[in-house]
Amino acid sequence: MAPILEVRNLSKRYASLLAVDAVNFSISRGDVLGYLGPNGSGKSTTVKMLTGLLEPTNGEILFQGRPVRDDLIAYKRAIGYVPEEAQLYGFLTGWEYLELIATLRNIPERVFEAKAKAMLEAFTIYTYRDATISSYSKGMRQRIALISATMHNPDLLILDEPFAGLDVSSGIVLRRVIEQLAAAGKAIFFASPAIEVVERVCGHFVLLRKGKRIAGGNMAETLAQLGYTRLEEAFVQMAEQTDTAQTARDIVAAIEAS
Ligand SMILES: Nc1ncnc2c1ncn2[C@@H]1O[C@H](COP(=O)(O)OP(=O)(O)OP(=O)(O)O)[C@@H](O)[C@H]1O
Ligand SMILES: [Mg+2]
Repeated sequence: MAPILEVRNLSKRYASLLAVDAVNFSISRGDVLGYLGPNGSGKSTTVKMLTGLLEPTNGEILFQGRPVRDDLIAYKRAIGYVPEEAQLYGFLTGWEYLELIATLRNIPERVFEAKAKAMLEAFTIYTYRDATISSYSKGMRQRIALISATMHNPDLLILDEPFAGLDVSSGIVLRRVIEQLAAAGKAIFFASPAIEVVERVCGHFVLLRKGKRIAGGNMAETLAQLGYTRLEEAFVQMAEQTDTAQTARDIVAAIEAS
């Protein structure tokens, strides 16, 4: 069976910067792929290409075996996307915003109402549904973004740092939701700079450094080989090649300098 998503030799150039450099990976049904890398390594640039917001400079993105550019509209209908910083309309209420998305996604009114109620309740923001989004906290907005990205029951979910801003219990709920969606046969792409999050949720990972894939594979096998502490150290070294203790000392010294 073809993977749901296959990325071949994907590159993006911004002027002189090769932000994503010939990256390859695939995601099958039931798999959660963790896309790891330090700040500026090319994660969101990859995400924007995967969601059709940015044209690749090179390479190919296949959805269910077919190039997405053959029918970008159908592809966008089939996926769910939670961006790094969701641009929600602050003047709408949470409920109105979800209703707008449901209309754009052709979700029938009655289906929408039941889904929105259930999802808002599960994410504990149902009582705030009639307040404007401009009054929401970061975590509340993130929950609205997650609901709006999943209401149409997509086969492929693309999440750019979905845990950012969520409190502990919402984070645990989201982790379990991701696990259960994967168990139900969805494919999930999950970009994050945080190995401790990826390690818990993802079956596979890709590690980026300056746009290049420098490591990847099965998460459990890699953990079994290296152990968590060594894996974390290896990630820092491979991806950033920085001495974190020295960097922290430099920052504190700069703060304390008079
Ligand atoms: N529109 C753009 N024009 C020019 N350069 C860009 C643009 N968008 C991103 N870049 C550059 O591309 C590189 C990769 O950025 P990207 O946002 O993909 O990183 P990231 O891995 O998502 O980082 P973070 O963890 O901070 O979200 C960075 O050097 C960034 O400055
Ligand atoms: Mg990013």
